Amino acid sequence: MDQQSYKLVCISCGEEYPYSQILYRCARCGDLLECRIEPQEVFSLCSLSGRIQSMWRYRELLPSFFREIVTLEEGYTRLVKAERLAKMLGVRELYVKMEGLNPTGSFKDRGMSVGVSMAKTLGARQVVCASTGNTSASLAAYASRAGLKCSVYIPEGKIALGKLFQARMFGAKIYQVRGSFDEALKMVLETAGSQAYILNSVNPWRIEGQKTAAFELWEQTGGRTDYFVVLPVGNSGNIAAYWKGFKELLENGLISEAPRLIGVQAEGASPIVEVIARQLDYLPQWSNPETIATAIRIGRPINWKKGVRAIRESGGTAVRVSDEEILSALRLLASVEGIATEPAGSAPIAAVRKLVEDGKLGQDDRVICIATGNMLKDTREELVSWNVPQKT
Ligand code: F0G
Repeated sequence: MDQQSYKLVCISCGEEYPYSQILYRCARCGDLLECRIEPQEVFSLCSLSGRIQSMWRYRELLPSFFREIVTLEEGYTRLVKAERLAKMLGVRELYVKMEGLNPTGSFKDRGMSVGVSMAKTLGARQVVCASTGNTSASLAAYASRAGLKCSVYIPEGKIALGKLFQARMFGAKIYQVRGSFDEALKMVLETAGSQAYILNSVNPWRIEGQKTAAFELWEQTGGRTDYFVVLPVGNSGNIAAYWKGFKELLENGLISEAPRLIGVQAEGASPIVEVIARQLDYLPQWSNPETIATAIRIGRPINWKKGVRAIRESGGTAVRVSDEEILSALRLLASVEGIATEPAGSAPIAAVRKLVEDGKLGQDDRVICIATGNMLKDTREELVSWNVPQKT
């Protein structure tokens, strides 16, 4: 490994560790770790033109010390303008970031490219994760690409079949857990993780890859920041990653103000909304998460502190939407714009609709909704045929 100025830093007590240490939590206080980079130089909007069309175009703010970069050319996903939907919902502009266009059909590929490259660099032979589906599909693919053994722990009967199919096709060993994602993750952290490198978002290198989506929004909007970024929240790693990306743009003088982040959760799995609404400094008990958006069916988000920080520091908010609202938004996006996503990916559209109804967003506002996963992963009949009360 070269001497790139990366280190791991505890988000609570600030204790620092070398980046090459395998550590998921602070050895002193037990809290989460974050990768910290001090770049020698940084890209500009101009210097990016002509670079590789993947997230690795932002190389100055990504690790340069990997023995081998494990990549499927992830990232650099389209940002599609949705004019008709903007008009219908009552906002000035609405864009959809098509994260379902990533190699395995979700944003997880960004984090896995960095995370699995790190696994290779550290000499790991096995990788493991718990998942509501997309993480397992992505890890399985990148592990294949890297020649690593892969095990995934998933909640039995509660993941979309397309995602399970992916994990099987990519050759992962699959453990179906009786219980929710929260129990599956507990199993990985307490037992399976001793045999293998853990690639859930408790691993800070995952977030390091996912932060590139913020760089893309900056580049794709020509350096603007006058919009809200609206994204679904499960384990809370992705919203933390966007905020990390925007903060690095701020620190490096590429922007003077960051966009506000709006986290969206399903009613039946919304502890983060509770924390924001009631200004809590702890995570409330949430034992039976339930929602049709299985990707975000999570009651104990492991990254809740990072996620809550992202929402608070950016001046954003958290919104809860019902399963009916999620389904209605899924169909609206598909029928009005021809844009397809999985249920979790449509939760941001449901949230925008709600915020406009509540008078919190309106004709002056620009919003970017993150469609986090591909429609073809989840083709349950009820997604098209369930009779959802329609609002117009
Ligand atoms: N959208 C989709 C499609 C997801 O798969 C996930 C998380 C999220 C949003 C939420 O992101 O957890 O970082 O807040 N899926 C994980 C998985 C939990 O196992 O695939 P988050």
